[in-house]
Order: sequence, then C-alpha cells, then structure tokens
Amino acid sequence: MKSLTENIADSLLKLDISKPLLVTTKTSFDAHFKKLISDIPYVRFSDYQSNPLLEDVLRGQEVFIQNKCDGLISLGGGSAMDMAKMIALKASQFDIQLRDTLDTTKKLKLYSHLAVPTTAGSGSETTQFAVVYIDGQKHSVDHPSLRPNKCILEPQLLEYLPQHQVAYSGLDALCQAIESHWSRRSNEQSRAKSSKAIEFLWTSLLGAYHKESPALKKVQEGSHLAGQAINITRTTAPHALSYPLTSYFGFPHGQAVSLSLLYFMNINLHSDKKDYYESKEQTVTLINDIIAHTGCQSFSEFSDEFKRLCANMKTTIAQLNLSTEKKQDILKKINLARLSNNPVKINEQHIMDFLNVI
Ligand SMILES: [Fe+2]
Repeated sequence: MKSLTENIADSLLKLDISKPLLVTTKTSFDAHFKKLISDIPYVRFSDYQSNPLLEDVLRGQEVFIQNKCDGLISLGGGSAMDMAKMIALKASQFDIQLRDTLDTTKKLKLYSHLAVPTTAGSGSETTQFAVVYIDGQKHSVDHPSLRPNKCILEPQLLEYLPQHQVAYSGLDALCQAIESHWSRRSNEQSRAKSSKAIEFLWTSLLGAYHKESPALKKVQEGSHLAGQAINITRTTAPHALSYPLTSYFGFPHGQAVSLSLLYFMNINLHSDKKDYYESKEQTVTLINDIIAHTGCQSFSEFSDEFKRLCANMKTTIAQLNLSTEKKQDILKKINLARLSNNPVKINEQHIMDFLNVI
C-alpha cells in the first residue's frame, strides 16, 4: 500500500502542481502530520482562524502570490479546506469579491486544489462551497469550480483527532446527511448518498469517538457521502440557525447544528399541511426513511437515541437562558436561504420558541 507522501506526490503530479501552498493548522501539523509528508516541497500557510475571516483569506492569497505557488493542498478539517478553496479563488480571479453571489453558470479557471481531510465531518473535500465570516456575518461562497479537484481519504489521519472533535465533526456530518434527506432540493441521487451516510454515521459514530479503527473508516466514508449529498441539496433549518449560535457563543459548528436537529425534525414531521412548501406526505415519508436508516421504530425512539449519542460523546450543553436582546440578534442573523430549503415554512415564532427553551 502507498504511503500518504506517495499518494500526495502522485496526485500533485496528476494535477500538475509543483509548488503547492499547504493550508493546514499549525499545531496539529507540527505534532502529527509534518513527518508524514516530509518529501513534498510546499509553502505552509497556517495563519487563519477556525471560523475563517475574510482577512485570513486575503493573507493566504498574498502568501500564495509572493511565493509563486501553482496549486494548493489542504490538510485539515473544514476550515483548512474552505480556506484553500477561497485562496484558490482569490489568487486566480483577483476581481471576485467573496461577499458577492457568484454566477454559477460561468466556469472559472482556478488553481488546482488537492484536499486531504484530517477530520470526518464537513465533507468539504467534495463540496463546492466555503464559509467565510465578513464583519461578523457568515457568508457562503458557492461555485462549482470551488470543488477540490481531488481528495485523498486516509482514515489513519483521524486517529490524531481529539475525542471532542470526532464528536462535533461527526455530528455535523450526521446532521448534514439528515437535513439533505429532507431538504426541498433532495432528489434520487442525493438520497442514495444521504441514506448510506445516515446508516454509516449512526452505527459508527460512538465507535469512532472511542477511536476504533473500523468505525473511524466508516465515519470518514459517511462524512464524504454526506458532503456529496449536501453538494446537491444544501442544508436546511438546523444549519441556518447554527451560524449565529456559533458566532455568538463560539459553539463548535457540529454542536451548534445538533442543538436544534430534533426541534426541527419534530416541526418537519408534525406541522399543519398548509405550512409545508410542497406535500406533507412526501416529507413525512422522507423522515420515516431517515428514522428507518437508523434502525429506530419511531421519532420518539430516534429522539431518545440521538440524545443518548450526544450525551455519550459529552456534547450536550447546559441551559443558555438567553436575554431578549440576544434572541432578537440571533433572529436577525439567520441564513434565510438555508431556511427556505426546509420543507416546512419556518417563521420567527418557530425560532423564538426554540430560543426560549435552550
Ligand atoms: Fe455543517
């Protein structure tokens, strides 16, 4: 079997990259990954936050240009891969502003990007979008050309992950798969991916948390499939609400998303017929499908099992008791595009009801 260095070297050759910018987190790179890719010539860039800012992207673009790099490797989690996508975009297409909506019908020629995920969660190695915070607000940069040209899935890399990160990124992947399945944009192709992802993640997440090798491999495959599914459908209400929760309280993304999953699942399952964008029957069928993929018999069993999984991975939070001002602020910062993917029309009262009980 080929080593990681050999795999990366082969991929760089295929992508015609001779001087890559390596986007990676400094601490984990120095501690674990540096020795694994010792023979690859690269310029390292680690000067970015875990929820990347526009300023971080511009710094990366400068390093890329100053060093005359000709492609990118991302080695890390969602933030490293998102950073590499946006640096590739800014270094290749100077005039594009990340806060603008990109014309997805126009093909963009970008520097090649090889993604090597070291977490299993975002599925960013196979998606065409990246998240950046501009003036405290979350923006999703979305274009088919942002999708990494190639990725290497090496489950061994996950063994270095701290347990809480396995939990948070795994929950993100599970929520992405579930949201994709009930999304208004889901189709046969996306549901084939999300169904498998739900099965893989549901059965393996706890084992991966305890660092069992076969489970880590399954969770990596599940996250990748969930990424492929949301690349088609995008996410829905739990993700829409997660971004202000992350920017206000610093909750890890996967935790912020999982906080409202059951709340919205209940709404999507039990609302009045008139509150669905399309047919209630179709959504109920899809949610029953999700529940069946986990081996549970009912929403209430699923709900108990999901809470148990979160508790077993120590991801539950104490009561937040939000002030009225904070609730109003959160409401203003919700991603409306993601809300409109949700099968039930979500209004302010829905969100307030949730914020009143967390
Ligand atoms: Fe996510």
